[in-house]
Amino acid sequence: MNIRCARVDDLMSMQNANLMCLPENYQMKYYFYHALSWPQLSYIAEDHKGNVVGYVLAKMEDEGSGDEPHGHITSLAVKRSYRRLGLANKMMDQTARAMVETYNAKFVSLHVRVSNRAALNLYKNTLKFEIVDTEPK
Ligand SMILES: CC(C)(COP(=O)(O)OP(=O)(O)OC[C@H]1O[C@@H](n2cnc3c(N)ncnc32)[C@H](O)[C@@H]1OP(=O)(O)O)[C@@H](O)C(=O)NCCC(=O)NCCS
Repeated sequence: MNIRCARVDDLMSMQNANLMCLPENYQMKYYFYHALSWPQLSYIAEDHKGNVVGYVLAKMEDEGSGDEPHGHITSLAVKRSYRRLGLANKMMDQTARAMVETYNAKFVSLHVRVSNRAALNLYKNTLKFEIVDTEPK
């Protein structure tokens, strides 16, 4: 398994993995927006044949929001048969590192459903995210 920065020619495979794994889906132009605006921040995991088995799609939050510079995880998924191998943890680590090195990010934000036990465990226990707010519904 290999983890590397996502390229424009990975975007279709990332969208495909997203459609398989999550109910929150995006148009292809939104993937391009990420890849062209913040080319250092999104990562993929690939198998030995070069097939994309997981991705993290990430961006910086708009400047002028008043906050310190910070990154945002738009989407993260690992295909079912490749889970619990540490891939999400490693991709998140690479992304956070790139946010700090490239954009001087002070923190990273994301949204996760309270019912998503696997993702909550990853964010809270492994990656040490803090819960700031719980939105209704
Ligand atoms: C959440 C998700 C990305 C985790 O990917 P992964 O590559 O399996 O995660 P990792 O192997 O890096 O797991 C790291 C840690 O997260 C936690 N974790 C991951 N999956 C878990 C599960 N099913 N149940 C409980 N804890 C889990 C564990 O603490 C794990 O460490 P451990 O294996 O040493 O116990 C994956 O389950 C997935 O794609 N889910 C569907 C899409 C999704 O929910 N995305 C997040 C949206 S916010």
